[in-house]
This record gives sequence, structure tokens and C-alpha cells, in this order.
Amino acid sequence: MPADKAEKSFVSHAFSVYRYILVNSDKQPPEQDQAIIVAEDVYRTFEIGSSRIEVLRGVSLEVQAGEKLFLCGASGAGKTSLLYTLAGLEKPNQGKVLISGESLYEMNRSRQARCRNRRMGYVFQSYALLPELTACENVCLPAMIGGKNSLQRAGELLDRVGLGDRLHHLPPELSGGEQQRVAIARSLMNDPEILFADEPTGNLDSKTGAEVMDLLLSLVDEQNKTLLVVTHDSSLAQSGDRKLELVDGLMNN
Ligand SMILES: Nc1ncnc2c1ncn2[C@@H]1O[C@H](COP(=O)(O)OP(=O)(O)O)[C@@H](O)[C@H]1O
Ligand SMILES: [Mg+2]
Repeated sequence: MPADKAEKSFVSHAFSVYRYILVNSDKQPPEQDQAIIVAEDVYRTFEIGSSRIEVLRGVSLEVQAGEKLFLCGASGAGKTSLLYTLAGLEKPNQGKVLISGESLYEMNRSRQARCRNRRMGYVFQSYALLPELTACENVCLPAMIGGKNSLQRAGELLDRVGLGDRLHHLPPELSGGEQQRVAIARSLMNDPEILFADEPTGNLDSKTGAEVMDLLLSLVDEQNKTLLVVTHDSSLAQSGDRKLELVDGLMNN
């Protein structure tokens, strides 16, 4: 076959293969500027006895991939509730959370768990480390849950957060700042796209807190993550790309 005919035939074959994949795929290719997290009119209500607390009263927001977003607000404003709802940890009473366009709370339980384990990493104010596991084992935990054992990667991550010489320490043998570094390393274990951090410096003195926040931000930049930080300290929010404020369960922006 002459070269130009062969080329034409290849192009038409490639086109038909591509069209076949597109038509037969149950998933449309993602829109280019689709937000990685979308909250649509989210409500969260707690009922204790006869009293009813409306914590989130119709919150909508979008987070773009790669964005560093700080969510601020006074104590009791509903920040943790919103973070947990966006992070797949607490189902809203009403409204939707979409992760890359897919409705998080409409996924079946195992898909939702896989989404949390593989696509999301978590850093909490109180570190949430298991006290009977070493730093290295704590970091490895998200991989173990997913059926892998990557103590070597856990060690490398601990090295990256400056704790290469603390691999076998138990959490009570570490300072608060060191424990939070372990938690940050753990949040990165499965190389997730999104990191959620709830008051990550809330238990630390200001110097250690600033160091931990700098570390978190530089890792997020270095590894191209999306970051959502909840804090009551709006001065911290200056280091993000965008700041949102929650007031009485509503977004004040
Ligand atoms: N599990 C719960 N049961 C009952 N009330 C809750 C629960 N979680 C949070 N709240 C209430 O919701 C409000 C907002 O809490 P939270 O989201 O933790 O606020 P923030 O993180 O901004 O301090 C508070 O008044 C709190 O007491
Ligand atoms: Mg809170």
C-alpha cells in the first residue's frame, strides 16, 4: 500500500477506535475545568433530645484542582462539620457533594471508602495517631487498609517531613509538632489528590504551628495536591490561594 494511503487508513482506524471508546464508555471524559470538589446547597442538622441545631444552612462552594483553600470562621461556626461533609466522613442531611463530578454520598459504601482511602488524605487537630503503632506504622496505615504494606515509602515520607530518625518512636514519645508531621506524612501515604486539614496547628505553639503549616503548604505545592484547611485563625489563611468564611452555617462571601 502506498505510504499516503497507509497513513489515511491508520488515521481513520485511530478515529474509529477513539469514537468506539467514547461511545461505549460509561463515563464521559472530564470537562477540562471541572472543579474537584463541589458542595451544592449542603445542610447539616443535629438533633439532641428535643433541641435541633442547624449547623450548615445551605452551603455551596467549588474547589478547583490544585487550589489551596482556607475555610475560616469563629468557633462553633460549623467549619469541622463542613470539612467532614466534603471529606466523605459525614453525610449531609440535604444537598450534594461532588468529587470530580461524581456524587460522593450516592456512591455505594465500598466505592465511597475507596474514594476516601485513595483520593483523600486527612490531618486532624489532635493528630489521630494510633498510640500503640510506631510512627512508621502509623504512616503506613492508609496503604495497609488498601491491602498494601509499604513501610519503605512510609520511611521515605517520614524522612521528607524531617523525622527520618524517629521511625520507630511511638506517638507518646514524640512532641506535638512531631506527631503532626507524622500525621502529614500519613495523609500523603496513598498519594491522594485532596488533603483535608482540620485546625492542623490548633494544638501547637505559634512557632511550631507556623513550621507545620509551612511544611504542609510546601508539600502540597511540591506534590501538586488540592488543599482544604479549616482554621479559626484567619491570619493563617494569607498563605492560601483563597479564603472563605463560614458565619452561622452560611458562606459569607
Ligand atoms: N455530633 C454532633 N452532635 C451535636 N452537635 C454537634 C455535633 N457536631 C457539632 N455539633 C454542633 O455544631 C456546631 C458547629 O460545630 P463544628 O462544626 O464543630 O464547628 P467549628 O468547627 O466551626 O468550631 C456546634 O454548636 C457544635 O456543638
Ligand atoms: Mg472545628
